[in-house]
Parts: sequence; C-alpha cells; structure tokens
Amino acid sequence: MSIFRIGVLASGGGTNLQTIIDHQKAGKLTVEIALVISNNPTAGALQRAQAAGIKTLCINHRDYNSREDFDRALVSALKDNDVNLVVLAGFMRIITDVMLNAFVHRIINIHPALLPAFPGINVQQQAIDYGARFSGCTVHFVDGGVDTGPIIIQAVVPILPQDTASSLSERILEQEHRIYPQAIQWIAEGRVSIEGRKVMIADSADCESTLINPIS
Ligand code: GRF
Repeated sequence: MSIFRIGVLASGGGTNLQTIIDHQKAGKLTVEIALVISNNPTAGALQRAQAAGIKTLCINHRDYNSREDFDRALVSALKDNDVNLVVLAGFMRIITDVMLNAFVHRIINIHPALLPAFPGINVQQQAIDYGARFSGCTVHFVDGGVDTGPIIIQAVVPILPQDTASSLSERILEQEHRIYPQAIQWIAEGRVSIEGRKVMIADSADCESTLINPIS
C-alpha cells in the first residue's frame, strides 16, 4: 500500500509542525510529509521543515489579487505533490471554496479552544475573560465556516485563577501536540468517517472520566 501523504500549511512558529515531524521520525505517525507551505516567508515553520529535510514552498498571499487566486496556487502545489490530506497548523488565512472543493473532507485544522466555544482569534484571552473553568483544543475538519467543521478529537485543560493568555496558550499547546498527530494517524489508517456533523473513529477506546474544576 502506498504511504499516506500530508501537506502542512503553517504561518507561524510551527510547534505543531515540529510535533508532526517528531512523531513521524519516531515511527508513531506513518505518513510522509510531502511538503510544508507557508504564506509567510519568515515563518519558523519553514525553517523547521528545512532542518528536517522536508520540501518547503513559500506562497505569499500578498502576491495574489484574490483569496481564490491564492488558493488556486495552494491547490496546484498540493496536487503536484500528491497530497492525500491537508493539515493546517497555525495557518492564518481563510480557506475558500477553491481549496474546499479540491480537497473535500481532506483538510483538517487545530484550534486552541473547545469548539464550538470561542471560534476565531485571541481565543485564550476570550476564554479567560469569560470566566470559563476549562478550555482546550480541537482538531476538526475544515468547512466553509470559521472553525465550524466536524470535530475529530478534543482535549481539555483547566483555566487557573492566575492564568494569562500566554500561560493558558502554553498549557493548551501541550495538548495540541498530543491530539494533532493522533488525529492524523487515525485518518492515515482509514479509521475516520463523517456522518453529518459527527466524526466516527473506528476502534477507538471509550472515555469514561469526568473532570471538575476547581476540585474542592
Ligand atoms: C496553535 O495554537 C494552533 O492551535 C493555532 O495556531 C497556533 C499555532 O502554533 N491554530 P504553532 O505555529 O504550531 O506553534
């Protein structure tokens, strides 16, 4: 069977990309990282990919007249590299129908909140300001909305009284680095299907615990 190929799109520092690379190198993620694309020429993600010997491309959105034209360039690069799954890892551009139609149910994203709470940006601060007791992260399929697609996996972290956006982000990132490789591996193994809004994972373990915060 041919190896499952992923294309990672990232705009920033790339810690999620790094985790994917590390899991792949450790044999825990049985995929090939076909290429890493960034819209940002100075993205740390590009350096991380190059250091790992992965093909990189910078496709700068500023060079295109419309979101659709930019997406056409992304689609063409991803198709040229036979990508089976598009992995958004801190990719700060809105995806249009051009991408969605080219990769139907084949684009996933990670979001640093427990969707459907707090979609959008600056969500760690929003969760703190709201007074939520828990936040976390969500891996979901990408659809036409902002962080609205079917949810694959989530992890929960407490929000502590002294938290700042930065301390909460750090706690959430640790969990992002656990659940993103997991989601990709499930998809690569062909265990993931979508039924309406629900994502079914074949043969996954049951979860029985309850979390309370604060604990007493
Ligand atoms: C993560 O918090 C991710 O959830 C969000 O953007 C951030 C990217 O971080 N979509 P990194 O570039 O992977 O370190």
